[in-house]
Amino acid sequence: MHSLPQLQSLINDYLALHLDAESDQPTLTAAMRYSLLAGGKRLRPALTLAVSEMLGQELTPAVVKAACAVELLHTYSLIHDDLPAMDNDDLRRGKPTNHKQFGAGMATLAGDGLLTLAFTWLSENDLPTATRLALVQALAKAAGPAGMVAGQAKDIEGEGKHLDLAALRDLHAEKTGALLCYAVEAGGLIAGASEGTLATLRDFGRQYGLAFQIEDDLLDVTASEATVGKEVNRDAAAHKNTYPGLLGIEGARAALKAALTQAKAAQAALPNGAALDAFLAYFTHFN
Ligand code: IPE
Ligand code: IPE
Ligand code: MG
Ligand code: MG
Ligand code: MG
Repeated sequence: MHSLPQLQSLINDYLALHLDAESDQPTLTAAMRYSLLAGGKRLRPALTLAVSEMLGQELTPAVVKAACAVELLHTYSLIHDDLPAMDNDDLRRGKPTNHKQFGAGMATLAGDGLLTLAFTWLSENDLPTATRLALVQALAKAAGPAGMVAGQAKDIEGEGKHLDLAALRDLHAEKTGALLCYAVEAGGLIAGASEGTLATLRDFGRQYGLAFQIEDDLLDVTASEATVGKEVNRDAAAHKNTYPGLLGIEGARAALKAALTQAKAAQAALPNGAALDAFLAYFTHFN
């Protein structure tokens, strides 16, 4: 079994080696590379690889390629999320945001390029055809207008308005939970897991994903810019709906713990579920 740092370096190596061949437009390539290789925890592709391996799948080059697709798509979502017309942020992954470096037009296109390239990497590899189709469908659904994009739409439309807990939970589940849930499920799809195991993986992924956005909201009010590599105290400034904004820091921590407790219950039902412990250690607000 690979440790989380080993998975992260597998992913970093794959991305660094294979991105440049995907476009002959130098500025676009530089802009995609700038954000993709700026660091990032790589938790989504690492989840896919860890779940695959936990279920007995060998991490072949085709598996690594398919797993890295979600990191391409995630990086697109960050570039667009930071645009002046969205969260208007200046710092990401410890560097000036893509639009600060390349301008809003090129940043938009770098995001578009990474989003579409994700589906090339998912569909052009040596996995069985049925697996590739299942991955493409699952990622399109998680990232699209019934998933992440819907959550982002609710996020910007909710600025300055009060959302209740049910609406906020729904927003977080879509804008962040859906992609993390996909990352977990993808590991099961690649490993050919049973429908029962896939359902447990989705259960884990949903709770993990919700917890992840609550943690992100908490970091915005408790962490330093140096730790998170992005500006802090930005959510209140933009009148965003967040868990600490609605419930206070302690209330948000309690909601985070509740989601992680449910994630752990699902984890316990998975074969070799302890392989996911490193991903639960990420949450600094849990203990
Ligand atoms: C940040 O995601 C955006 C959210 C969905 C909360 P990550 O915290 O995974 O960011 P990177 O990939 O490590 O930069
Ligand atoms: C991001 O939510 C969700 C995405 C789909 C990118 P945030 O806007 O809170 O993420 P950060 O804090 O900018 O990373
Ligand atoms: Mg945002
Ligand atoms: Mg943002
Ligand atoms: Mg945030």
